[in-house]
This record gives sequence, structure tokens and C-alpha cells, in this order.
Amino acid sequence: MSIAIAIDGPAGAGKSTIAKAAAKALGFIYVDTGAMYRALGLFALRNIIEPDDKDSVKELLKRAEVSLARNEKGEQLVILNGEDVSSLIRTEQVSMAASKISAIPEVRAFLLSLQRDMAKTYDVIMDGRDIGTVVLPDAKVKIFLTASAEIRARRRYDELIAKGENVVYEDVLADVIKRDDNDMNRPIAPLKPAEDSILVDTSELTLQESIDLLINTIEVNSK
Ligand code: DC
Repeated sequence: MSIAIAIDGPAGAGKSTIAKAAAKALGFIYVDTGAMYRALGLFALRNIIEPDDKDSVKELLKRAEVSLARNEKGEQLVILNGEDVSSLIRTEQVSMAASKISAIPEVRAFLLSLQRDMAKTYDVIMDGRDIGTVVLPDAKVKIFLTASAEIRARRRYDELIAKGENVVYEDVLADVIKRDDNDMNRPIAPLKPAEDSILVDTSELTLQESIDLLINTIEVNSK
């Protein structure tokens, strides 16, 4: 039987970087479910559809095929209708579209079976918002990885500046708060810690300390 580790938490807690490093160290396949919502957000934007317009999005799903693949380095690629959109989905505009589109129940149902199938086939560390609560309620270890909104915005701001983007910290913080609000207050699969999850707060930790803590938490709790 395959082993699944569920990692949930808000935007910008460093989940993907930390979970990816832990997966590599522990020999698990890393699955970033946010990338799937992002691919659908991008698809809506490309089709000039409001990502919270439920009826149009439902129509759009009939033409959408999302899958995950790996490159030669073992990194996850997101494929939308045959196109590798892995780098195109990492913009602020797509982040917001993904957050809105993910509140539509049909969108969540569309991606759920794909996510569960991956966990049936492989040992996975799966990261998202509802992995411990909805997607993999029987996961061996459930972790809720978080950091304060200010710290998350500061990290995101530094990343964007390093990429050469012209952003203002206050705008990044406002986006983080808005996205938290969307993700935590939607009626379906809201972001919340599973009852049996372990809280890991990275506010005061460096990246390496966060990775070490996550690896240790998984090792201790998966025995
Ligand atoms: O983790 P991320 O920032 O790439 O996720 C993008 C959006 O997708 C986020 O605002 C919430 C949504 N999402 C979700 O609703 N459920 C998941 N399992 C993963 C992401």
C-alpha cells in the first residue's frame, strides 16, 4: 500500500518549497495540487471568463484536460490540454484566478479523482488546502504548515523583487490577506487544519530549519 502525507496551509507559507525538499529527502513523489487549480485559472483567463462565473466555468471544464507529468529532473509539470503551462501559472493574476475558481464545487470535483488516483499509485507528499480534510482523509501524517500573513507577504515580495517584478509590499500583503479570506471562507472545502493535523509554524524559521522540521515531523509520525 502506498503512503500519503498531507500538507495543507495558506498561500505563501513556503509549503511547496519545503514539501518538495522533504519529498526528495524521504523518497516520496511531491504533488502540488495548487498547480492544478492554477492551470484552470489560467484557462479561464485565456478564455476571457471570470473565474468566479460558475456557469461559464462549468462550460469551460468540458474543454479542459489537466494532468501532471515529471521532467527528467523529477520536477512536477502541469499540462493543460497538452501544453506545459508550469511556468505560465506563477503570476499574481493567475494566483487570484486560481483562488476564485477553486471555490466552485464542480472545479473541485473535477480535480479530486485525479488527486486521489495519484495517491493510490505512488508514495506522495501532497500539498494543498484540503488534502488532510477532503482529498486524503486517511493520510498517514497530516501537517498544517503556516506562517503569519506579514511574514508570508514579505517572503513573496522578496521573491517577486528577485524576479525583477515591480511590486509594492503593501499590495502583496493585501493580496495574501484577500487570498486567505477566499480560501478560508468558501463554503466548500475551506482551508482549515484537519482535526488530527500537526501544526508547523515557520514564521521564525529559516528555510533550512523549516525543511528539517518537516522531515523530522514526518519521520517521527509515520512510524
Ligand atoms: O498553493 P497555491 O497558491 O498554488 O494554490 C492556488 C490556489 O488554489 C489557492 O488560492 C487555493 C487553491 N487551492 C485549493 O483550493 N485547494 C487545493 N488543494 C490547492 C489549492
